[in-house]
Amino acid sequence: MPNLGNLTVSRQGFGAMGLSHAYGQAEDSASIATIHRAIDLGVTFFDTATGYGEGHNERLLGEAIAARRDELVIASKFVHRPHGGGPEVEPVHPRDAVEASLKRLGVERIDLYYLHRVDPLIAIEESIGELGRLVDEGKIGAVGVSEATADGIRRAHATYKLTALQSEYSLWTRDVEVEILPTVRELGIGFVAYSPLGRGFLAGAEVTDPNDRRHQHPRFQPDAVAANSRRRAVIEEVAQRLGVSVAQVSLAWVLSKGVVPIPGTRHIAHLEANWAANDLALDAESVVALEAAFARGSTVGARYPTESLKLVPPEPVAA
Ligand SMILES: NC(=O)c1ccc[n+]([C@@H]2O[C@H](COP(=O)([O-])OP(=O)(O)OC[C@H]3O[C@@H](n4cnc5c(N)ncnc54)[C@H](OP(=O)(O)O)[C@@H]3O)[C@@H](O)[C@H]2O)c1
Repeated sequence: MPNLGNLTVSRQGFGAMGLSHAYGQAEDSASIATIHRAIDLGVTFFDTATGYGEGHNERLLGEAIAARRDELVIASKFVHRPHGGGPEVEPVHPRDAVEASLKRLGVERIDLYYLHRVDPLIAIEESIGELGRLVDEGKIGAVGVSEATADGIRRAHATYKLTALQSEYSLWTRDVEVEILPTVRELGIGFVAYSPLGRGFLAGAEVTDPNDRRHQHPRFQPDAVAANSRRRAVIEEVAQRLGVSVAQVSLAWVLSKGVVPIPGTRHIAHLEANWAANDLALDAESVVALEAAFARGSTVGARYPTESLKLVPPEPVAA
C-alpha cells in the first residue's frame, strides 16, 4: 500500500467530485452505493473539496462513509477565493474553511487538507502556515497543496511539511514529469494524480449532458476531440491486445509511475473495472507505444479554460 507522508492509502483513491459537480447528473442514493462498493473493494482514500457542488460533495461523502470512517483516509481542499475571484472578494480563512468542512463531512478530523489553488494575492507561506497550525490543533491530520509550481512546493514545504501534492496527471497531461514530480520525490512528498482518466476521454467516455462542464474545456471542443481521438486509438489497440478496457490501460499507465491516482465515477461497473487496473502490469512494448502517441505537450487543446488556466502552473516549454 502506498504512503503519502505518514498516511497509508489504497493504490487508487476515489475522486468524489463527479458525484456532485461538473460531469452530468448523479443520484445521491446511487452515489452512496458507489462509495460503499469502493470501500468494500478496498479503497481507503477518498477525495472531495469545499467547492464540489458548493458543499454537497462533502456532505454526501460524510454521510456515505460515516459507519466506516475510522478505516478511511479522507481528503478535502479549500480555496481562499472561489471561482478565481480577485481583490474585491474577501478571502476565506483556512480556519473557517476547515471548520465548515468538518461540519459538512461530520468528522472530528480531516486526514489531509489541501490548498486547492495557490491564491495569486496570498503568499503560499501564509496559507500553508495556517493549515500547519490546524494540524497542530488536531483539526486536520496533514497538509497538501494542489497545482503548485515547483517553487511554490518548495516554499510551502519549508513552511510546514507537505504530505501530498495533488496535480493533474494522465497520458494526455504529462506536464508534471518535467519539474514537479522530481521536486516532490526529492522532498519526500506524496503525489496524488487527479483526472487520471483525462476527465473520461482516456476511458472512451462520451460527453452527452448539455450542462457538462467539459463543454467549456478546450480539449473537449470538436476539433480537439477529433485530433486527440487519433491518439486514443493507440490506447484502444493496446487494450485490445491485452484483452482489457481503454480505462484500465490508461489507469495502469498512471499507476506504473508510482503515484496515487484518484479516478472518479458514478457507476459501480466503472469503479470495479478501474480497481482491477491495480493488477494490470503493462509490458514495455505497450508503454513505448502509449508514450510515443502521448508525447508530453502533444495533446490538442489546453487542459483548462483560459481563466482556470491562470491558476495552474504553466505548461513546461517543449523539450
Ligand atoms: N485538485 C484539483 O484541482 C482537481 C481537479 C479535478 C479533479 N480532481 C479530483 O480528481 C478526481 C478524478 O478526476 P476527474 O473526475 O476530473 O476525472 P477522471 O477520473 O479522469 O475521469 C472521470 C470521468 O471518467 C468517466 N469514467 C470513469 N471510469 C470509467 C470507466 N471505467 N469507463 C468509462 N468511463 C469512465 C466518468 O464517468 P462515469 O461517471 O460515467 O463513470 C467521469 O466522467 C475528482 O473526482 C476530484 O476528486 C481534483
